[in-house]
Amino acid sequence: MDSPCSKTRNPFTGAEANAVGVKVDAVCKSYAGVEVLKDITFEVQPSEIFVLMGPSGSGKSVLLRHIAGLELPTSGTIAVDGLDPSLEATRDRVRLALVFQDGALFNSLSVYDNLALYPREHRSGDEKAIRERVMHSLRILSVEDSVNKFPSELSGGMKKRVSIARALVTEPQLLLYDEPTSELDPVMSATISEIIATLKNEYSVTSLVVTHDRALALTISNRVGILMDGELVTLGTPDDLNKSKDPRIVDFLNPKIDIKHPRFKELETQAPA
Ligand SMILES: Nc1ncnc2c1ncn2[C@@H]1O[C@H](COP(=O)(O)OP(=O)(O)OP(=O)(O)O)[C@@H](O)[C@H]1O
Ligand SMILES: [Mg+2]
Repeated sequence: MDSPCSKTRNPFTGAEANAVGVKVDAVCKSYAGVEVLKDITFEVQPSEIFVLMGPSGSGKSVLLRHIAGLELPTSGTIAVDGLDPSLEATRDRVRLALVFQDGALFNSLSVYDNLALYPREHRSGDEKAIRERVMHSLRILSVEDSVNKFPSELSGGMKKRVSIARALVTEPQLLLYDEPTSELDPVMSATISEIIATLKNEYSVTSLVVTHDRALALTISNRVGILMDGELVTLGTPDDLNKSKDPRIVDFLNPKIDIKHPRFKELETQAPA
């Protein structure tokens, strides 16, 4: 694993900054008395690719929103580079970007303006420099032809790539991805995996990736955690997971389609004659 002293290199300027780590300590979260995160503890090392998997509804997106500082835990603590991510002052110190599950692009803005929003707000150079940065990010994701389109004119997969490009424009030290390859074809999914790996290898960006994409999880990650019903049930290298004998992990990673299962019989009987 990389040393905590490794540096991130800005993909645009080459400037160096410390690679950042994440510490999640005994985090619990309840909504209206229903516990959706149960005593979660783990660390993401600086410039690590950490993948979080788990069944739908197990709490992955909720956990990611907490690490991004958008929500506060009911109990427990979260630190990004030693700082509370929910504080404004932390966001001035650590560049953190979240790629939302649904893209979360502003529908009233063109792709260009969606990407230019952050550098304009932070007065990162003149418009010419901003345009170069925006186009560079779009080119990395092969969506530069969509620069003048509006989100409603993009396919699901294009929106996904534009939202990753928008995260890159912020020159992140920590990138949080919520299902970066859902809605993408297998070739584009592989490209996204390569981009995440390149950001780590060349720029030491720390990545926390929530995904159902087994190929991504088992090829580019340093470690994988699996959440089930709000609990972190396992944490290990891809190799550890492949060798796991825990039936929950084996069944989750190798789902079987059983057309003799009673639920298929139910469908048959409900089908119109
Ligand atoms: N703001 C909220 N208020 C109340 N309950 C919530 C809220 N956000 C999430 N939940 C609940 O928390 C649980 C975990 O939701 P979450 O979105 O984290 O699932 P997930 O693991 O990301 O699932 P998926 O793979 O389908 O995206 C669900 O039962 C969901 O209904
Ligand atoms: Mg989710």
